[in-house]
Amino acid sequence: MAIIEKIDIDSDSIFLKHVPIFSELDDETLEWLTDIGIRKSFKKDSMIMQEKEPGNMFFVIATGSVKISRINNEGREIILAILQQSNFFGEMSILDGFSRSANVIALEDSDLFLIKREEFNNLLYKQPKVCLTLLKELSKRIRDADMKIKILTLKDAVGRIAAVLLQLGDELGKVNNGQIVIDKLPLRHDIANLASTSRETVSRIMQGLCNKGILELHGSKLKILDYEKLKNLVV
Ligand code: CMP
Repeated sequence: MAIIEKIDIDSDSIFLKHVPIFSELDDETLEWLTDIGIRKSFKKDSMIMQEKEPGNMFFVIATGSVKISRINNEGREIILAILQQSNFFGEMSILDGFSRSANVIALEDSDLFLIKREEFNNLLYKQPKVCLTLLKELSKRIRDADMKIKILTLKDAVGRIAAVLLQLGDELGKVNNGQIVIDKLPLRHDIANLASTSRETVSRIMQGLCNKGILELHGSKLKILDYEKLKNLVV
């Protein structure tokens, strides 16, 4: 479960200390990162990087959130992941030297902290703890990708949507009074792409789950009221 603390990003070194991949670094290395890092802001819906272009920067999300996606042969968007504050992306091209594996698009106005490839590689050579945290996060992403493949094999749209909501709860939610709350639920269109169904089906099924007291929706805020019942729909 992602527990998001509000981070004071006015100070880069305080922000970096809260980023899991950098949290074990000593003050001197954090100061160095603060000096060599580049800050960039992206407006909602803007393309941060495009599949197949060469990659020479590592990105950390200081504020906001992004979606990682690819376009399939029929022109349909496949969402691979949604990442938020303190997550990183762009490591694959840096590590294997191939082109960008996916598109990255800002889901809201977002501030990013960028590190050049040579500097990021220097950090990996010198800091085994950064390597270990990176490997741990990459393992988590393989587990999440395995789960997404499993979700797509479910025959029933209700089951796929329930599984996507549970996974979003795990990635973006926080626990409040024993219930999972997602403050900024992705758009129905994005949930539909995650569950391989239409936006209309997502709206209809989510409304049905609200009527049954399993979910509660207020604007973009979603509460999972009955986790067990939602889980039981994943068949
Ligand atoms: P890179 O290939 O350099 O550029 C696109 C980035 O999207 C990639 O690095 C990863 O950081 C990220 N990415 C690609 N696939 C996934 C995935 N399945 N889950 C999370 N992030 C991903």
